[in-house]
Amino acid sequence: MSACCALTLALTFYACQKKNQSATCSTCHPLADSMMVVSARREASEVGLQIMLDGGNAFDAAIAVHFALAVVYPQAGNIGGGGFMIAHTQYGENICLDFRETAPMAAHEKMYLHPDGTVQQRASLLGGLACGVPGSVHGMFELHRKYGSKSWYELLQPAIHWAENGFVLTSLDVEEINAVRHELDSINGMNVFTSRRWKEGDTLRQPDLARTLILIAHNPSCFYKGAIADTLIAAVNNSGGILQKDDLLAYRSVWRKPIEISFLNYRIITMPPPGSGGLALAQILSWLEMTHVQNYKHHSASYIQLIAELEKRAYADRSMFLGDPDFIQIPLSELLSKEYLSNRLEMFPVHQVTPSTSILPGEISFHEHEQTTHFSIVDAFGNAVSLTTTINSAYGSRLIVNGAGFIMNNEMDDFSVKPGEKNQFGLLGGKANRIQANKRMLSSMTPVVVLKDNNPVMVIGSPGGATIITTVLQNLLNVLVFNMGMQQSVNQPRFHHQWMPDVLFLEPAWEEWAVLVDSLRRMGYTIQFRSPIGRVSAIVKTPGGKWEGGADTRGDNVACGR
Ligand code: GLY
Repeated sequence: MSACCALTLALTFYACQKKNQSATCSTCHPLADSMMVVSARREASEVGLQIMLDGGNAFDAAIAVHFALAVVYPQAGNIGGGGFMIAHTQYGENICLDFRETAPMAAHEKMYLHPDGTVQQRASLLGGLACGVPGSVHGMFELHRKYGSKSWYELLQPAIHWAENGFVLTSLDVEEINAVRHELDSINGMNVFTSRRWKEGDTLRQPDLARTLILIAHNPSCFYKGAIADTLIAAVNNSGGILQKDDLLAYRSVWRKPIEISFLNYRIITMPPPGSGGLALAQILSWLEMTHVQNYKHHSASYIQLIAELEKRAYADRSMFLGDPDFIQIPLSELLSKEYLSNRLEMFPVHQVTPSTSILPGEISFHEHEQTTHFSIVDAFGNAVSLTTTINSAYGSRLIVNGAGFIMNNEMDDFSVKPGEKNQFGLLGGKANRIQANKRMLSSMTPVVVLKDNNPVMVIGSPGGATIITTVLQNLLNVLVFNMGMQQSVNQPRFHHQWMPDVLFLEPAWEEWAVLVDSLRRMGYTIQFRSPIGRVSAIVKTPGGKWEGGADTRGDNVACGR
């Protein structure tokens, strides 16, 4: 990139940063003619839009947004984690990039068990032993190699800018740092996130991370071999981990064939295994078509019941059949076949409440923020990118790579650490998702692109652990069946059933719907109110041909379009 170009970018970002402190930045419009980015942070959405205004495509924007989120949304944005991307290209291809973390070579099935076979509490969640081999830098570089049009170096400049100059903390940022302050301190000692008692409006600078990003901007391979790799391995292993040089050298992101299904007049493009969300979503949408969901009243008791019953069946299949397709045989086409799906409907009539009879006792607890983050992008060329990225929990394993300033994932908890044992999201896993060296852990991340007549009309995804799938589902229905606008859809209250535990989870907003909640209880559901579900970043094509962003106010999400 020329010095002049770099300066233009830096000045634009700085101008927006100044405005953020008081009002909104003028680049952010939730209704756009040709291009849009919706992400968890204003700064990142602006970065993506600016890249496209400067001639870049949606893939360039995605790379820049991914790195920007690693700085301005450190609770989930990352270079120490992994993710999934679903996209539709301007040439009409539907593509899928899997840059999920892998288990280290020294990982094995009993690594989180005591000698007596009981599970070591929180060993798969905190510190070095919880870390999978990170895929984000490899994934972004691979994406750039195939679809990028701007220079790699240029795409990292905004992230470097925000790391060097700092970004302004929101009240949610402060709350989320405070929630993990104790663990960040006990694992890392003094560190950039807890160096002071932050308050809303303070500026957080990350000089170590800036230096790391500069190295990656010059040479991304140094994350996997060389300066950063050595620092990363030392940090993980000093914190009880088992990462070796060969783990990083061997890491590869993988292009996969997306799951594609028809739903009403639309084509739904989503994530195959090792994602579980795509299959669950495809099963539920197919069942909803068979049961004529369009005849139901939105958010009536019978609508919620229908969806909850279907969610139970899909999550039951998830726990039994899904894992890393490079390690196990997954009967994907059978699980999606009309015959299998209609048999399953007949076996369990969905107009009755079927108890999840084999549930293990115990309540799901939501001590952990269900982090991960999603962004959606459309460009003026016809590309649409749906990308979800994660370090699993908020602030991942809480391990900050000493001197390099980035946070390592705790994705190992997404494996089934022991058959029948719940993970942090209360999800049960079976043998298919057992820990094996180099294997990818099952994920709920569900990036989606919706096509009509082979053109993108909707891009959506969400964080939220096990609730990602049901959040994406409800928003697809709000828009595609009930004709809501994107923001109107995102604002709707959400519910969630994941088969086990046999509980219908409701967001706090449902407390105002007392009659409905009472009906659901009388139907036989055990209801539990819980914290807000998901933080959707989504885009839809309006009937007038514009792009409308849906940016979740459950987070600090922002839509920027032009
Ligand atoms: N770490 C959350 C997920 O991938 O489902």
